[in-house]
Amino acid sequence: MTEKQPFFIKEIREQPKILANTLSQYLGPNRHLKMARPPLDDQTLRKIQRVYITACGTSYHAGMTARYIIEELSQLPTVVEPASEAGCHQLLVDQGTLAVAISQSGRSPETLAALNLAKARGAATLAIANEVASPLTEAAEGSLMTLAGQVFTLSSTKAFTCQTLILYLLAIRLAQSRGLMRDEWLRELENLGRIPEMARHVLAMEDKVVLLAKKLASYDHVFILARGALLPMAYEGALKLKEVAHFHAEGYSMGEFGHGPLALARANTPIILIAFSDEIDSTTLALARAFKARGAPLFLITEDGLKKDQALTSMAEGFFPLPAAHPRLRPMVAILPLQLLAYHLGRLKSLDVDNPGGLLSSLDYLKTDFAI
Ligand code: BG6
Repeated sequence: MTEKQPFFIKEIREQPKILANTLSQYLGPNRHLKMARPPLDDQTLRKIQRVYITACGTSYHAGMTARYIIEELSQLPTVVEPASEAGCHQLLVDQGTLAVAISQSGRSPETLAALNLAKARGAATLAIANEVASPLTEAAEGSLMTLAGQVFTLSSTKAFTCQTLILYLLAIRLAQSRGLMRDEWLRELENLGRIPEMARHVLAMEDKVVLLAKKLASYDHVFILARGALLPMAYEGALKLKEVAHFHAEGYSMGEFGHGPLALARANTPIILIAFSDEIDSTTLALARAFKARGAPLFLITEDGLKKDQALTSMAEGFFPLPAAHPRLRPMVAILPLQLLAYHLGRLKSLDVDNPGGLLSSLDYLKTDFAI
């Protein structure tokens, strides 16, 4: 009898179809964006001077990577913070702010509390959720649904890439409302149209991830390094490894790693480095040389083909080949091997990847005085 496939891997493999469906649902005739209801109507958006994004866990990482795209396309200053931090400082949010709360379940108490805090300060509030009727979508002025279908696993994968895609579309909407991207937005959408096929191509190389998982399984820790819009993917990959494979992983800025943590680079501490060829610079190569000198095994998630950086790959123990991708599509591509890695490491450890045990249930919250 064939073993029942965990939902976690099923949901990872659903992503190309779901990304294609999400794109088609949000694009109307002649590819115009279907994002005109409050608070994304032109009248509201004309008042927006800044964007505030808040979420928990994986959703927070989607928000982190969205910041790069929103600032690039719309020129709006964008702040992203974990929802649990929202009440711990002077929240500079007002009626000139678009507050975006992201939550797969729409039920994370901290995210709801942070949204209500922003609303109390006059912000226009937008929920990005996968559940239509949820406390978050009810509390927000408007919502954009991630059309990821029903989610059966606690650790978010397909909802995450959907969130990232929708936040990219939001960035285009914000840019258009400000008279930017006059004729580039169609090209931007054509860019986005490539993501389902790219995801299919990357997921088809699952066997290369299995090899990487088997190499990593003999260690107890790993650092995952990246920079720019890929840095949140290092954090997200580390969260997946901790949550699903119970494998200690730390996402870290590649540029910051040489300011202290390099001391930990030694034979029992492998390093995964995520970088596309045009991001590989003297710091990257100097770090790789330092890892080699210290005997720290280096594994690369990097570009294959003509642009493959031979100097860097010659210093690596393992290599997952990414397709060439426009910088704004790279996060959605680079996260896929890390999702697969968490799955295969978890399976090598015979863990229940669908119920990893990392979620502080909302009942636990109710026992404490949880007020922001
Ligand atoms: C955590 C889950 O408890 O909640 C994470 O373990 C998830 O995987 C996070 O990303 C946020 O959940 P939501 O539903 O608000 O996106």
